Amino acid sequence: MSNRLEAAQTSPVRTPVLQTPAERVWRPSELDCLEEADLGLSKGSDGRLVARQVRSKAGAKCDGKWRSRDAQFDFIYVLKGRVTIEHENLGPVTLEEGATLLRPRGMKFRELDHSRDYEGMEIFSTRLFPQDVTFSSAFTKPVVTHDGPHAYVVGEGERSFFKYRDLGLAALTNQHCHIHITRALSRKEGGTGWHYHSMGQFAFGLSGWATLDVDNGKSIKVEYGTALSVPPQCSHDVPAYSEDYAVFELWLPAHCETVTVAAPASKAAGAI
Ligand SMILES: [Fe+2]
Repeated sequence: MSNRLEAAQTSPVRTPVLQTPAERVWRPSELDCLEEADLGLSKGSDGRLVARQVRSKAGAKCDGKWRSRDAQFDFIYVLKGRVTIEHENLGPVTLEEGATLLRPRGMKFRELDHSRDYEGMEIFSTRLFPQDVTFSSAFTKPVVTHDGPHAYVVGEGERSFFKYRDLGLAALTNQHCHIHITRALSRKEGGTGWHYHSMGQFAFGLSGWATLDVDNGKSIKVEYGTALSVPPQCSHDVPAYSEDYAVFELWLPAHCETVTVAAPASKAAGAI
């Protein structure tokens, strides 16, 4: 999943963009049956991607109107409940919790139904997303994936305490972005240790909790709904997490190098 490189230096301090569920600003969606809230990914991706959480609006029904979005990258992840969507070249498909859908650019779709507890995450590109993203010639219909034990592989080497569900987006996007779901398998004494990555990360907590320390001295609790953009080369450590911890992670670009670093002075053993 990642290449751990030999290194012993600390990296420059880079500041993550954090949004807790309590800080969410909900507003009406263009679909009358939903509300939406921005998750701060635009700021965390230098304007290349937008992420929104959407949720069912009480008492409202889908209008069934055909729509399209002029975005090179157009992705949905179902957080809770279920949603049924029809596309112009694909009959109605029902997506349940953990399902994903990547839609070809400009494809017409209409939302037919969703459960009263439906929550989803929509991630789509802006004009700043690299225009040379090449999709497979087979990508003419929406690509749908579903959650389940079969979808996960155990992490390699030192990451064997996590399992990962790769959504296959790196190949589809010419390595411009990668998304996986991480689930804890067991606790690891001392957590991940201090490290940084070569690429930017966007994380959205799915279940359980984890503590994320960053080298500006902040300690962040990641739990359901926590949205966090971590810039490249931002040193961090996950010293503790619950056994049911799960997180959605997007990498930009898809290639990942992980560099082990020394703990910052503020977090070194004995420091107060
Ligand atoms: Fe990390």
